[in-house]
Amino acid sequence: MSKYRVAVVGATGAVGQEMLSVLETRNFPVAELVPLASDRSRGKTVTFRGQEHPIRVLDKDSFTGVHLALFSAGGSISKEMAPFAVKAGAIVVDNSSAFRMEPEVPLVVPEVNRDAIAKHAGIIANPNCSTIIMCVAITPIHRLSPIQRIVASTYQATSGAGAKGMDALLREVEGEGKEAGAKAKDSPFPHRISGNLIPRIDTLQENGYTREEMKMVLETRKIMGLPPIPISATCVRVPVERAHSESIQITTRSPLTLEQIRAAIAAAPGVSLLDSPREDVYPTPLSVSGQDDVYVGRIRRHPDEPATYDLWVVGDQIRKGAALNAVQIAEELFP
Ligand code: A2P
Repeated sequence: MSKYRVAVVGATGAVGQEMLSVLETRNFPVAELVPLASDRSRGKTVTFRGQEHPIRVLDKDSFTGVHLALFSAGGSISKEMAPFAVKAGAIVVDNSSAFRMEPEVPLVVPEVNRDAIAKHAGIIANPNCSTIIMCVAITPIHRLSPIQRIVASTYQATSGAGAKGMDALLREVEGEGKEAGAKAKDSPFPHRISGNLIPRIDTLQENGYTREEMKMVLETRKIMGLPPIPISATCVRVPVERAHSESIQITTRSPLTLEQIRAAIAAAPGVSLLDSPREDVYPTPLSVSGQDDVYVGRIRRHPDEPATYDLWVVGDQIRKGAALNAVQIAEELFP
């Protein structure tokens, strides 16, 4: 088996750590790991295949001899450093939003548009986490009858804001800031998240939607190759440690039976059906945390519209929503 030099940019972060775990468990042919982070991590190590690997401080010369560079250190780092990786001959799989909407950059969820990978010119973008989870869940239905309209509401875990987000929730649950109703020190959220819901993820746009909400709209169209059908989203941060949940309403061109929908989801790769609500069987963030698949339950037909359905979808944001999807793309590049 050929073996590759693999750089992980942001190796100390929540997604970077998961990337190491996914590379290891899926036995990706890593000959040498190059774990990269900021100057703050100088002297630290990461564990990979039972061995300690010293963190190297990211600079433009970090990519010499690297075949694959997995980036997850934020958009500005990707914008600045990914071109150096490409110049050094590496293929970049970028988890940030830096390149996602550039026309020549494939934006890939392997279960949905694997073929787009081949068109890359050095960089392949890993989509937004909520978008990946939604696309995996609705694509089997879209293949039965084209989707004409999507309305999504998300319940996004603190893991979406990285290690800092999860840490802020844990410290608030332990009592930090409780008396004053204040958020934990260094929290990345605009308000206290424990016992709360925050209906603003990422920055507000001119149209009143947030960047996160517009990512779900624009990225979904690009990944699924949809015409400009109506799509809207409301993205909410919830006091859950890990795994994002989504209430999704879709309308298809022609009415489908719920049995057809359930069978298509059960048969599709990367997605599992968990839909016996009378027995309280449906996905929850706790039950889905740490799982590879996206889970779908509570499948209903709209009471007034025969070709409209409501679904409850949960996916581990750090895994399928980020690290696993990136490694799946890498597996297509380096089989
Ligand atoms: P570091 O730990 O050295 O700050 P998370 O999303 O969980 O907060 O993780 C962000 C990741 O991105 C961390 O690994 C972090 O490294 C890395 N990172 C942040 N800023 C830089 C930078 N300027 N150069 C390299 N890595 C960075």
